[in-house]
Amino acid sequence: MTDRYADHLTDADLGEALTYPVDAFISREYAAAENELLWSRVWQMAGREEDVPDVGDFITYNIGDESIIIIRTAPDTLKAYYNVCPHRGRQLINTPDDVNCVTGMRRTFVCGFHGWAFNREGKNVNILDKDDWNGALTDDRTCLSQVRVDTWGGWIYVNMDPAAESLQEFLRPAARILDHFEFDKMRYKWRQWTVYPCNWKTAIEAFMEPYHVSGTHPQLLKYGQYYAYSKPYGLHGVSGFDERDASFKMSQSSSVTRAGLGDPRISTYELARENYETVNYAASTETLVNAAKRLVEELPEGTPAADVIAHWLASAKADDAVRGVIWPEIPPDIMAEAGLAWSLFPNQTILQGVTFALCYRVRPYGDDPNKCIFESYALERYPDGAEPKTEWVCAEPTADNWGSVLAQDFANMEWVQKGMKSRGFRGTLPNPHQEQKITNFHRHLSRFMGAGVPRKLEQPNP
Ligand code: FES
Ligand SMILES: [Fe+2]
Repeated sequence: MTDRYADHLTDADLGEALTYPVDAFISREYAAAENELLWSRVWQMAGREEDVPDVGDFITYNIGDESIIIIRTAPDTLKAYYNVCPHRGRQLINTPDDVNCVTGMRRTFVCGFHGWAFNREGKNVNILDKDDWNGALTDDRTCLSQVRVDTWGGWIYVNMDPAAESLQEFLRPAARILDHFEFDKMRYKWRQWTVYPCNWKTAIEAFMEPYHVSGTHPQLLKYGQYYAYSKPYGLHGVSGFDERDASFKMSQSSSVTRAGLGDPRISTYELARENYETVNYAASTETLVNAAKRLVEELPEGTPAADVIAHWLASAKADDAVRGVIWPEIPPDIMAEAGLAWSLFPNQTILQGVTFALCYRVRPYGDDPNKCIFESYALERYPDGAEPKTEWVCAEPTADNWGSVLAQDFANMEWVQKGMKSRGFRGTLPNPHQEQKITNFHRHLSRFMGAGVPRKLEQPNP
């Protein structure tokens, strides 16, 4: 792939044994520098369009010490502004640390301090005793400061850098595949967040690779071998099942799930159900689980795995059509390339299916390298108007709140954060085949940060 982000590492180099330094996770200076060098210059997901359905609806998005207001100004137009009053710098909308995101509806934003007011276009419409300034208060001094905003797949993205490439350009290597899943037609099923004691990168990396399944989620091994591949798409990356057994290499199974060990009619059902129930009713849908349950009745014993999967998906698709959920037509080659889960640089993860997505976003907590705002949400395709009403729920990281699989991931992240600080740690040794998403992430992060480039293991320390 040609890479406009070319540096001294190529995509092919990611297949080599590499290492990257741990400063990015544990250094206070690095965390402070991220606000200047990364978050101020990168497209980042700030919400969903469904968060602001009507004209006048707004949400806040906080990143590091920055706060941004996103408001719908017309049925098809969003505007984003820095959340600060140009008079003496009060936040226009208060954003307490214990609230995930402030929502509301405004015709006018009125500052709580001295009452300056701004319309939805960010123009100042009221200043008390404006003449006291003797004409010095021009419109461009008193309006709100704009931030670039754009949308893709139903998500809202912002970028504070006026010189940055377009969102389309930024996402293109991944969007070429992911556009087919029509995420814009999905809606929240649930959404949860917590403040968690590790760096945001420690957290997001816990969801970038299936290499940890054997060690962290051993209960899943009874359904098959979790051998994974992982590869870069520009700044972004994908991972999926890389079957050691070639008979399982079929287009549909790499993405939704796959027939595992034993009778594929049974293992397909058991894995779909397990995924659904232990990942907080995400990573599958009720339709898929119910259709999988019928496989033993509908197919004769000895049906090859590929046929089982094909039958399962066809009957789930038909079931969904009956209730008004129409599956997107995804070409088999795209489905195969789509793999299991995508990481969009820098902090968005999407584990996708044809009618659902399990997603993560992790943000820094101020400039504390040892804390993050961890967020997970499930999207699903619903019949028109049948989506549930959801809000961000603050939930302690327990199995009761997040499902037993997420709890297993939580049970690592905090201890990775602590372990990396040991002077006995010789440096990271990411798997060159199964953890390329992570080395690719550090490769591109290092370009923003000017430090931390992954290097080949055999190279001596500089
Ligand atoms: S700081 Fe907003 S009106 Fe004074
Ligand atoms: Fe996991």
